[in-house]
Amino acid sequence: MHKKIIITIDGWSSCGKSTLAKQLAKELNYVYIDSGAMYRAITLYFLRNHVDWTKHKAVDEALKEITLDFRYNEHSKQSEMYLNDENVEYVIRDLVVAEKVSEVAAVKEVRQFAVKQQQQMGEKKGIVMDGRDIGTVVFPKAALKIFMTADNAIRVERRFKELFEKNPNVTIEEVKNNLEMRDYIDSHREVSPLRQAEDAIVLDNTNLTMKQQLEIALRWAKEKIG
Ligand code: CDP
Ligand code: CDP
Repeated sequence: MHKKIIITIDGWSSCGKSTLAKQLAKELNYVYIDSGAMYRAITLYFLRNHVDWTKHKAVDEALKEITLDFRYNEHSKQSEMYLNDENVEYVIRDLVVAEKVSEVAAVKEVRQFAVKQQQQMGEKKGIVMDGRDIGTVVFPKAALKIFMTADNAIRVERRFKELFEKNPNVTIEEVKNNLEMRDYIDSHREVSPLRQAEDAIVLDNTNLTMKQQLEIALRWAKEKIG
């Protein structure tokens, strides 16, 4: 029986974190947790219910009404985000949510709410979680921390392709602006800004295929698992 570890993957928007996290979890038979989906689902709730996230009281009240959970879908073979029992996995990827998520994720109460649940999910180890503060704040003692990056133009291109398939009205300018704006807010906010943990290993996948990035990360994981 191999020991189970926690693997964290942090990095810039759309650089391939969740793709790698899913691949790794599958190979290692671990649970994959998309922490960004939680911030996106909270943002969706705030937008739908006109919650003013600049007001602490409004945020506190709203968070009391939110239940988040991940449920495994047998068909897609993925775990999907549920907000108050509604499957929101698809709708939270929309640019409307992406435009506000970094503002919402910068709110202290929102982060406390999400981080507490993320830490509970890691209690039994055997998980791969991706996000912005997973190696620095959520699991500072994780055995393997990966910090992902890729050239800006490649990241924009990759995310544009994804969004364009869903909505042909999306422009590359919109996607570029959104990634730049989120990266700026995420790395400059006061609470848990995006930064590389001191003990994280950098993985730049600008010129890597998905297969190559998996091979590299799997080698690192196996070294840690023993
Ligand atoms: O997949 P993508 O890189 O576009 O973003 P995501 O992982 O879905 O995260 C969406 C947003 O949630 C980020 O831009 C951050 O503002 C926030 N987030 C965060 O603050 N902390 C995390 N651990 C994960 C996401
Ligand atoms: O989770 P994050 O926002 O960092 O990125 P992602 O959703 O995993 O990846 C964004 C897009 O880049 C997806 O469409 C991936 O298929 C693609 N990708 C790629 O083309 N080559 C890689 N080496 C990694 C991801």
